[in-house]
Amino acid sequence: MSQEFVGAIDQGTTSTRFMVFDHAGDEVGRHQVEHEQMLPQAGWVEHDAAEIWTNTRTVIEKGLEDAGIAASDLAAVGITNQRETTVVWDRRTGEPYGHAIVWQDTRTAALAKAIEDDGRGAIVHAKSGLPPAAYFAGGKLHWILENVDGVRADAEAGHALFGTIDTWLIWNLTGGPDGGVHVTDVTNASRTMLMNIEDLQWDDELLEIFEIPRQMLPEITSSSEEFARTPADGPFGAEVILAGNLGDQHAALVGQACFEPGMLKNTYGTGNFLVLNTGTEIVRSDRGLLTTVAYRFGDAPPVYALEGSIAVTGSAIQWLRDQLKVFAEAADSESLAETVDDNGGVYFVPAFSGLFAPYWRPDARGVIVGLSRFNTVAHVARAALEAICYQSKDVVDVMIADSGIELEVLRVDGGITANELCMQIQADILDIGVSRPVVAETTALGAAYAAGLAVGFWAGTDELVANWSESKRWTPQWSDEDREAGYHQWKKAVERTLGWVE
Ligand code: G3P
Repeated sequence: MSQEFVGAIDQGTTSTRFMVFDHAGDEVGRHQVEHEQMLPQAGWVEHDAAEIWTNTRTVIEKGLEDAGIAASDLAAVGITNQRETTVVWDRRTGEPYGHAIVWQDTRTAALAKAIEDDGRGAIVHAKSGLPPAAYFAGGKLHWILENVDGVRADAEAGHALFGTIDTWLIWNLTGGPDGGVHVTDVTNASRTMLMNIEDLQWDDELLEIFEIPRQMLPEITSSSEEFARTPADGPFGAEVILAGNLGDQHAALVGQACFEPGMLKNTYGTGNFLVLNTGTEIVRSDRGLLTTVAYRFGDAPPVYALEGSIAVTGSAIQWLRDQLKVFAEAADSESLAETVDDNGGVYFVPAFSGLFAPYWRPDARGVIVGLSRFNTVAHVARAALEAICYQSKDVVDVMIADSGIELEVLRVDGGITANELCMQIQADILDIGVSRPVVAETTALGAAYAAGLAVGFWAGTDELVANWSESKRWTPQWSDEDREAGYHQWKKAVERTLGWVE
């Protein structure tokens, strides 16, 4: 059999999956496994990187089985990952030094504030495109170097390696202590506060600010090139070309075929991430958006993006399910919310990790406001769905202001796009059409596309654009009056969250 398929490892915040796609971009098979979320204290979120690596091997094996193909049928494999989550491990043993610090973890908020307050924040923002925040990897790496015994000495001696999850998986996929390849790509590196977004290299001044020994950092590659091969006796059981690597939100932009400046996608996952292609131009924002590398295909010039990251959207639904036991399955949020005509005056701002874009307020905490005796859990469920959509509107408004784009339709993907009520609410709140593609797994698809482009499986982005097709479009139904009144109340609710942590 010739190599008719491309594989993608999608390592996300809550689960790891392996997916196989054919030339039309259609799914051929998949397997997915969840991993443990460790919440050792308020504001801390950790993962076990060793568990993630074990799950990766499982999903590769079972995903190939599900697709009914052998690893030798894969033209290439791409990797995409939860971004910013930080791992440090010993290159001699492959053992991580403690747990990975997850992107949602706020333990480094004080460090970010100190850097902002002493004036170095402007340097970080100008060079990396990111305002100092606990969200990004550089502060997390600083924390590990300062707080985990022996790491700084081992890093200086060249034994301790840093990686975001892409780097950790690639190093293990390529042999680990026996010659593992230590690389990351420009998109993942653009989330560290350590890379200069103009020359796409680790920046000495930024490394100094965060006190990071350069020798522990991976080499930065493009998002689409052959950067390694797996050993024949590795987890694929065959030599497989690794040729795609992008952070998950960047991969979703590629999977949505948003290759033209002005194209925007919104991914609904644990959080929401709106990414706007700004072409080869670096657009800077002083309204709370991040400047980031969208993707770089081989030697072509890098394509940049503006991003609005929202920390808590899908995880607010999980919180209602797991902590408050409001429903048994996340999908039940739709049927419950449908039992009421509107939110009954209830607004829910799930600022569990502070507020990300466009506010960047680590001092915010969640609120449910507007309650009266009349309200039921159905109103709270509806308010949670609305919160996902109102937070997206906060970002869309700023994107329009920063870039001057005229937005006619929002391309959406991710788990919650299966929730029809939520998508209708999104169209109502934004007052534009909301369009979901046939292949909703755009993150994995984008990683597969990056890998396939590098090896010539797809000839160019025109083929990927041709693969994209719409499965459903929602159009706005609310009156202007209802839309304005609802957004006014939402903004009042956001005000209530600010300054809660002193
Ligand atoms: O920046 C964090 C983001 O990459 C996480 O995405 O889909 O794993 O929640 P997700």
